[in-house]
Amino acid sequence: MEIGRGAEAAITLYEGTVKKYRMAKSYRQAELDQHIRQERTLREAKITSEARKHGVPTPIIRDISRFELEMEYVSGAKIKDVITPELSERVGEMVGRLHRGGIVHGDLTTSNMILQGDRIYLIDFGLSYYESSVEAQGVDVHVYFQTLHSTHDRAEELVEAFKAGYSRTAPAPEAVLKRVDEIKARGRYL
Ligand SMILES: Nc1ncnc2c1ncn2[C@@H]1O[C@H](COP(=O)(O)OP(=O)(O)OP(=O)(O)O)[C@@H](O)[C@H]1O
Ligand SMILES: [Mg+2]
Repeated sequence: MEIGRGAEAAITLYEGTVKKYRMAKSYRQAELDQHIRQERTLREAKITSEARKHGVPTPIIRDISRFELEMEYVSGAKIKDVITPELSERVGEMVGRLHRGGIVHGDLTTSNMILQGDRIYLIDFGLSYYESSVEAQGVDVHVYFQTLHSTHDRAEELVEAFKAGYSRTAPAPEAVLKRVDEIKARGRYL
């Protein structure tokens, strides 16, 4: 059963296992295209597992081939559809733990978070990387705030709740949140 088709990948579900197949992009030169798909598949497998060691719930990776991952199906609602200030605060704690582990997610939208029971799972690590700079962490948080503003009412409340959670677990919350304001200001002048 197909459960999703993003910009990049086809997602199917069969007997509790999700397959994520990265599709060819015909606008890219063939060898470069294969290199990118292989690289993102490998990166996603590796960092999805690594994140769990830092206390961030992620699906268990079951298998990997060149352009395809098999992983545990996380049943539940997308955070996008159920977000509240309480949940946004817990997203903040989770992202703080991820950053403390030296990982930047690269696509921190509320579509890439799933609420299963009382745990928030983070998925879609294809653009993630290891970096601990304030700038990289700031961009990560900026993307999350942008999603809140573009898809949710009372975004400001959700932003404030995130900051409270993030400040409890992140390695450099003050510097990062200050940088987020700067990144936002930069965007206004572009
Ligand atoms: N392990 C999983 N368990 C449950 N649902 C999943 C899982 N992996 C992916 N999905 C579903 O499929 C959607 C797309 O997956 P993912 O975000 O990994 O791929 P994508 O190609 O980056 O998609 P998009 O472009 O929409 O971000 C997710 O938003 C989620 O609804
Ligand atoms: Mg996604």
